[in-house]
Amino acid sequence: MSQPPRRISPPPRLRGAVIVPGDKSISHRAAILNAVAAGPATVDNFLPADDCLATLDCLRALGVSWSLERSSDESARLSLTGRGIGGLRESADTLDARNSGTTMRLLAGLLAGRPFLSIITGDESLRSRPMGRVILPLREMGAQISGRDGDSLAPLTIRGGPLRGIHHRSPVASAQVKSALLLAGLQAEGETTLEEPVRSRDHTERMLRAMGADLREEGNALRLSPLRQDLTPLNLRVPGDFSGAAFWLVAAALHPDAEISLSDVGVNPTRTGLLDALREMGADITVSSERLQGGEPVADLVVRSSRLEGTVVEGPAVVRLIDEVPALAVAAALARGRTVIRDVGELRVKESDRILATAQELRRLGARVEERPDGLIIEGVGALRGAPCDSRGDHRLAMALAVAGMVAQGETELSGAEAIRISYPGFWQHLAKLESG
Ligand code: S3P
Repeated sequence: MSQPPRRISPPPRLRGAVIVPGDKSISHRAAILNAVAAGPATVDNFLPADDCLATLDCLRALGVSWSLERSSDESARLSLTGRGIGGLRESADTLDARNSGTTMRLLAGLLAGRPFLSIITGDESLRSRPMGRVILPLREMGAQISGRDGDSLAPLTIRGGPLRGIHHRSPVASAQVKSALLLAGLQAEGETTLEEPVRSRDHTERMLRAMGADLREEGNALRLSPLRQDLTPLNLRVPGDFSGAAFWLVAAALHPDAEISLSDVGVNPTRTGLLDALREMGADITVSSERLQGGEPVADLVVRSSRLEGTVVEGPAVVRLIDEVPALAVAAALARGRTVIRDVGELRVKESDRILATAQELRRLGARVEERPDGLIIEGVGALRGAPCDSRGDHRLAMALAVAGMVAQGETELSGAEAIRISYPGFWQHLAKLESG
């Protein structure tokens, strides 16, 4: 049932410290990989948001026992008991990945090698997203996997069985596809080698190595040997989600009276393209105390009110900010001059068509945004004005519009704000804290 719109008025200030939620991508992987490792593991700062809970529910249906101890809306301690990859059991029912592409695609790769039947479905948005990109290479590995609409859409039916390693050159840079094939490759006979046009986020690779997998980089390719023994459980503390921090980076840079400190944020270079783009636009952001946490780089960030100029974002760089384009578009809407964002056609198959939705919704707030087949052209305007707008069920669009509302004149009425639960359940509490900071 849809909830009443959320009303947002520009706060007089945005000041204080925020601990952003645990990284969504890393939380999924920590759960899935530890679920098939040999023994118990504890994952601190696990993100207990809708997407990661979908992964946990699927794992429970597959016979994995786990418990979650919440310390806040967006931080929990996950305790899991892996019984090795052979410990997974056929689920008595359909697995529901809900809104989560990561859940569906990673589990498809894992379950392709398990000797039982799995059916994975999802919500309306996920059932319209492309699945051929995992179905086809998994079939090449010998998997019996099919999907609706000529094997292009979920629900997916997987009759797991023996797999063989392949050499796969992916036409898209997708960490979900790469991770699905790595999970299948662990169970295959022979090596699996993967190439992607640009290096996508590498959290799965880092975690697999830390858990004892034989995974090497050879030039542009990844080479994985099948598991000789089960993965070693990995206790870790999940870094803060850069994709959650992104909204505060933009909000503070645009707001006239802002200084926000963000501690323990993941700064894996495959994820931080927005940091570079915002700095290029003139944002005042400092990064300090860079260190490694659970095999991932983390740092403390401080962002202050800034004057932004338009920029051009294109080519290989876009993979490093693909989830941040709605936030970047808000920054561009109020920057001086023109911003061009190209080569982001992938955004059309995210939780919503993010090119279309970002353009249409930001225009309602007075932004000058032109939609292109593979991107956006944005002419900065002096001010945005509050207006009704709609997240279209997309969590990242909801938060981008919320940020636009924080720096627009007058009141913004955001419908579908509840989508934020997908990745950042405490978003509004954090805003309230910064408003009174
Ligand atoms: C993710 C990979 C990216 C990203 C998504 C999370 C992951 O998707 O957009 O939000 O956790 O692997 P693609 O693999 O489809 O590019």
